[in-house]
Amino acid sequence: MTKRILLLFILFLSVSPAFALDIFYPADGTYVTRSDYLIVRAGADIDGLTLEIGGEKSDLLDISADDYRAAFGDKLIVQPNWDAGENTVKVEAYKGGKLVAEKQAVFFFQDDPVAAPPADYKRFVMHTPAQEAQCVACHNMKPTQAQLQLVGADNPCASCHARMLEPENVHGPAGAWQCAYCHDAKSSPVRYEPSSRNSDLCNECHDDMAKETSEVKFVHGPVAVGLCTLCHDTHASDNPAQLLLPVNQLCLGCHEEIDDGTHVNRGVSGNPHPLSGVPDPSREGELSCVGCHNPHGGKSPYLFSNGLSGRMSLCQLCHNK
Ligand code: HEC
Ligand code: HEC
Ligand code: HEC
Ligand code: HEC
Ligand code: HEC
Ligand code: HEC
Ligand code: HEC
Ligand code: HEC
Repeated sequence: MTKRILLLFILFLSVSPAFALDIFYPADGTYVTRSDYLIVRAGADIDGLTLEIGGEKSDLLDISADDYRAAFGDKLIVQPNWDAGENTVKVEAYKGGKLVAEKQAVFFFQDDPVAAPPADYKRFVMHTPAQEAQCVACHNMKPTQAQLQLVGADNPCASCHARMLEPENVHGPAGAWQCAYCHDAKSSPVRYEPSSRNSDLCNECHDDMAKETSEVKFVHGPVAVGLCTLCHDTHASDNPAQLLLPVNQLCLGCHEEIDDGTHVNRGVSGNPHPLSGVPDPSREGELSCVGCHNPHGGKSPYLFSNGLSGRMSLCQLCHNK
């Protein structure tokens, strides 16, 4: 008896998809690395939604207008601002003021480039045939080689990924929409995998920074193992040189002990040497770790900046001038 009721219930659900409600991205149980958007799908009979993000609930969003449905179909896309770590999104669907469906997604926002992916969450994946089939009615999901070369809004990636290039400092080839130079349009089962995740890719256009030269005898740890993306976003960022974080925050993420107030002046009486917050006499802008250290490599084991090898010559870069 209970079995038959269950069966009827399932049948009832499947013949009544009008109140279909789904949090497409970020999907429940996945982890994501960007905070560009929230994508909800709501069936044709739903005329309003509320979104609750991090405990804050929106007003009722009206999605019933014909021109809205004609342009966006069942999709509602908003720009969120995820917290680092676990997030919860709740969506309620209304019809004529009555609650008709609700959905919740718990997912993980991985904004720390150095940390390993969270074990309890799967990576969200967009570019599989099944996922892409849901977008093909309105977006070009099968671009030709020629279309992939187009620059600006005509590029087939632009209709969805334009937000990636909004930050102030945009990486050359990303800014020129040469996404397919680095992302393999033929990779499978997930399309657009980067052709490489290490410095092999970068070295196609930049000098090999791990190579010993007259200026470089010592190579910085992360550069030596080819992990440029621990420090740089290959697309865009609000920090100079597309750094993932402001310089000192980036360096101290791995060298926490440097911030103990004794750096540079160790053993010397007096105030701690400033590491930030004052102008750098040797270059434009504020003093930071890179006033004294080259982030990639150098002649000294301490990777002193400007190709310097001795401590004294480093001090003279800014003092006694
Ligand atoms: C019924 C048509 C339709 C379908 C189907 C559709 N979209 Fe869109 N989408 C649009 C329109 C229209 C825009 C606005 C385009 C523009 O401004 O150039 C858009 C824009 C977007 C944006 C950019 C939003 C922003 O504000 O930056 C993303 C991301 C997106 N769609 C993702 C998807 C995904 C993922 C799918 C499939 C799961 C999908 N869309 C399916 C119509 C659709
Ligand atoms: C219909 C909208 C849409 C179009 C068109 C689109 N993408 Fe995506 N893509 C997404 C969404 C949504 C995600 C998941 C969120 C994110 O990572 O930004 C995504 C994720 C990705 C990822 C991460 C891996 C994955 O599969 O989740 C890569 C790489 C990527 N897109 C590259 C591209 C490139 C290159 C193009 C153009 C050839 C392109 N995308 C066109 C919507 C789109
Ligand atoms: C210079 C090479 C390069 C170019 C150009 C490039 N990407 Fe990427 N992209 C990468 C690499 C490498 C990764 C993997 C990052 C990592 O592992 O930290 C990546 C990751 C991504 C992701 C996954 C989310 C993330 O940020 O980690 C998306 C989405 C994406 N790229 C979309 C695009 C789009 C859209 C374009 C064109 C505007 C583009 N990429 C241009 C190299 C590139
Ligand atoms: C297809 C060629 C190409 C590839 C591949 C490439 N770059 Fe670039 N990169 C450029 C160009 C072009 C510029 C802009 C140069 C300029 O404006 O002086 C640039 C600039 C940069 C800058 C900023 C320089 C500055 O002065 O602000 C950084 C950082 C950078 N790239 C890192 C990387 C990393 C990391 C990779 C690998 C993930 C990579 N690039 C792969 C072509 C490339
Ligand atoms: C430990 C963090 C870190 C790693 C790893 C790293 N970079 Fe950088 N990179 C920086 C910082 C910080 C700057 C800004 C330097 C400055 O302002 O003097 C920079 C600047 C740059 C620049 C522009 C200025 C210049 O020095 O030419 C390029 C290009 C660049 N990096 C490419 C790369 C490539 C390619 C890799 C991998 C081989 C890489 N970086 C690895 C931190 C890093
Ligand atoms: C992703 C982690 C990571 C980041 C970010 C990072 N470093 Fe390093 N750094 C290392 C590793 C690993 C070593 C090698 C340590 C060793 O060999 O003992 C190292 C070594 C060094 C050394 C040489 C230390 C010695 O004992 O010889 C200096 C100086 C240094 N880093 C400065 C910086 C500066 C400046 C930045 C920011 C631009 C930075 N690091 C960012 C991981 C990091
Ligand atoms: C004013 C110059 C100066 C600045 C700014 C500076 N350093 Fe150093 N750093 C040095 C000198 C000099 C040494 C060599 C060891 C010594 O003489 O104390 C050194 C050594 C290091 C070492 C290796 C030895 C040790 O002490 O553990 C690391 C790692 C390091 N610095 C990281 C950083 C980071 C991260 C920053 C930014 C938060 C930074 N430094 C800012 C001058 C500087
Ligand atoms: C990249 C530039 C730079 C380098 C290299 C540098 N300093 Fe400094 N130093 C500064 C700045 C900026 C100040 C702060 C000056 C001010 O506040 O007027 C400072 C202040 C000092 C002070 C005074 C601290 C106080 O307020 O009592 C001492 C001592 C000092 N530095 C020693 C050194 C020594 C020793 C070295 C070499 C190991 C060195 N500095 C390398 C930029 C630098």
